Amino acid sequence: MKPALAKLFERLGKSMVGDYRAMHPQRNPVVSLRNNAKKLGRVIRQYSFLSKHAVPFLENSNRVLRKNGWRSLAEQIEENIAEERGKAQEAAHYEIFCRGAKNELALDLKRTRASDASKAFVKRWLEISRHARPEFVAGALYAFELTGVPEMSLVKALLNDYSTHALGRPLDRKGRLAKFFDSHTGHFEVKHAQRIRDNVGAHLNTKAQHGLFAKGFHELMGAMDGWWAGMAAEAARTGVKKKP
Ligand SMILES: [Fe+2]
Ligand SMILES: [Fe+2]
Repeated sequence: MKPALAKLFERLGKSMVGDYRAMHPQRNPVVSLRNNAKKLGRVIRQYSFLSKHAVPFLENSNRVLRKNGWRSLAEQIEENIAEERGKAQEAAHYEIFCRGAKNELALDLKRTRASDASKAFVKRWLEISRHARPEFVAGALYAFELTGVPEMSLVKALLNDYSTHALGRPLDRKGRLAKFFDSHTGHFEVKHAQRIRDNVGAHLNTKAQHGLFAKGFHELMGAMDGWWAGMAAEAARTGVKKKP
């Protein structure tokens, strides 16, 4: 890998937890709600919209890569998509997540309606994936895959807190829901981000292209930060009666 590109990845990796709160295990804004089952349940239900729209996001992005002839990266993103769709597993990842949440936590994610914060996030997120420039889209793809590990570690901890407070027992560490999260933090997301690092270099040659890649990365990080702050604010209002 060229040194300039290696430096760019290093900078973005530091920025993910240094400049943004969403992926920070303590500074994420919902962490303060961890002891409240009702509020936490609301956050978990809203979080499922990321899982629900992951494949459309990846597919839109891939279309931009293909259209611009970014074949070597597109082939890798297609692998990521196949895995999200449950290649060699019993179902798509979103389905496995929904089943696990229903069976182990009695949370019906499919019957959840998107909140204002989630609607705004999904709209922005999918807009990003339809951006005209492949460098920008690739940067957003990298943010999506790089956040996979810290995000799913955080959410697994939230699921455990929810289980503890709502059901009186911790999340079954050997259950399917825990294993689903572990398979992501230990395997899928590590590989997904690595595939981008290994293949985007073939397409990024100029300083301006590096800049656009970083721009796409920061754009999605900013959208995620806003979403988590919005989810925390919405959940904090849960159960608080409006003044007449
Ligand atoms: Fe997945
Ligand atoms: Fe991924």
